[in-house]
Amino acid sequence: MTDLLASSDTADSTQAEVDAEMAAAAATAVDGEPQPRLDYPPYRSSLLRHPTKAQHPADPEGIELWSPVFGDHEIDAVESDLTVQHSGEPVGERMKVTGRVLDGDGRPVRHQLVEIWQANAAGRYLHQRDQHPAPIDPNFSGLGRCLTDAEGRYAFTTIKPGPYPWRNHRNAWRPAHIHFSLFGNDFTQRLVTQMYFPGDPLFALDPIYQSILDPRARERLVASYDHDVTEPEWCTGYRWDIVLTGGHRTPREEEA
Ligand SMILES: [Fe+2]
Repeated sequence: MTDLLASSDTADSTQAEVDAEMAAAAATAVDGEPQPRLDYPPYRSSLLRHPTKAQHPADPEGIELWSPVFGDHEIDAVESDLTVQHSGEPVGERMKVTGRVLDGDGRPVRHQLVEIWQANAAGRYLHQRDQHPAPIDPNFSGLGRCLTDAEGRYAFTTIKPGPYPWRNHRNAWRPAHIHFSLFGNDFTQRLVTQMYFPGDPLFALDPIYQSILDPRARERLVASYDHDVTEPEWCTGYRWDIVLTGGHRTPREEEA
């Protein structure tokens, strides 16, 4: 553990050294490992903050009594279009991303909150901790949210985010991605994940993407280009479906 702590959050490893660590981890995959490996040394800063104890069982209904409540009235349609939230148009490739949210049994997760956050076209977040020399776009905040419809569909209009450097190791760059948070049918189903774009050359180099050891599971984080979502003279289109677990919840009685 001492070695891990000493190497944690140091940016002086080379990409070749991180590549070797990722290859070594991949060789130890057990049964595919479709979820990110939490104790994954190539992703430096995760070592000191990943869970080390068994998950604490939670009563889904009990949590609903004190967790946040989101109602339709709090979501404005403009919140799903990240290109119209300021006085001018953001710079970059306008795109639409849409898909369905399904539970573990394949049923649509209806009228539930989907939130996204992302960097701008230059790969810069509007956040004080992102100070790398790429321009802030005054017309782009990079935050959006919407509710899924009756078929479990969500849709956002945004601009394609750029890749950005981070300090995991020397010359580390994240593949372009959009962060997603979903709450599903109840608070205990919350899923936070990242959506990627097809064919990104940085996939093989990225310890966050590679912390999912099962290649097929990793690929499920990559959206598909969909020409039917693309709109003429307006935007390109991507499709990405999300499957939540937890579809076996005991049905509740209707309130009187
Ligand atoms: Fe990010």
